[in-house]
Amino acid sequence: MVRLIIDDQEVEVEKDLSILEAAKKMGIEIPTLCYHEALSPQGACRVCTVEIIRKAHSILSTACTYPVQAGIEVKTDSEKVRKARGLILELLLARCPNVESIRDLAEKMGIKKPRFQTDDEECILCGLCVRVCQEVVGVSSIGFINRGVTREVTTPYQVHSDVCIGCGACAVVCPTGAIKIEDHQNLRKIPLWHTELERKRCKVCGNHFAPQAEIDFLKRKKDELPEDLFEVCPNCRRSELAKKLSLTKIPRSFYTKT
Ligand code: SF4
Ligand code: FES
Repeated sequence: MVRLIIDDQEVEVEKDLSILEAAKKMGIEIPTLCYHEALSPQGACRVCTVEIIRKAHSILSTACTYPVQAGIEVKTDSEKVRKARGLILELLLARCPNVESIRDLAEKMGIKKPRFQTDDEECILCGLCVRVCQEVVGVSSIGFINRGVTREVTTPYQVHSDVCIGCGACAVVCPTGAIKIEDHQNLRKIPLWHTELERKRCKVCGNHFAPQAEIDFLKRKKDELPEDLFEVCPNCRRSELAKKLSLTKIPRSFYTKT
């Protein structure tokens, strides 16, 4: 255990926590954009910047990447923090003036209009999509290319990649809504990744549901799961109809999963 002070309150927390996690445990909310509890922290957006004081020496650092340490004092809302966080959000707002999550955070800091020249991007290059694809899905179909102002996230050679299974995990974690999933009957499209995949038809209701590539991937990964599971859409898996059609090999727990 480690003893430290966060916003004038002394606290004892597990030594493997970050400042962000320790503050959360105390009910102190630090704003974040590029942090997701299921993924390794990257410190990309800098929105979670806090002030850390150690032996009368004060620094600014990202709370999501900074481990708790004995004897430090953390200020999550000091004047120094507000100034730094305000500038970071102003820059993000200039890059993405039409992204709601950024507009909301900026507004909380009293910023309505950035002083800088605006762009019309949706991606803040936080890398959450890259990390979820690599660390959770285990596919690594997207990555960063270029440097500086031309840096972006894309597929290899910026064309359709056979590696992408169209699962949409990237869109789920994206904090800005930059990744759009378009389901058109038998096709799933993810325009940002040049992805276009056939969707499987449910054996029960006949509706198209998940991309065939995603189902094939899951089958390869979890071969102990019953074959029937992949023939039926999530809605029908829960329905009486599916049970009547004696998809008996599907464990009961799958009917209750969303
Ligand atoms: S697309 Fe979304 S998740 Fe990926 S880097 Fe851009 S903002 Fe982050
Ligand atoms: S949430 Fe910590 S740097 Fe983005």
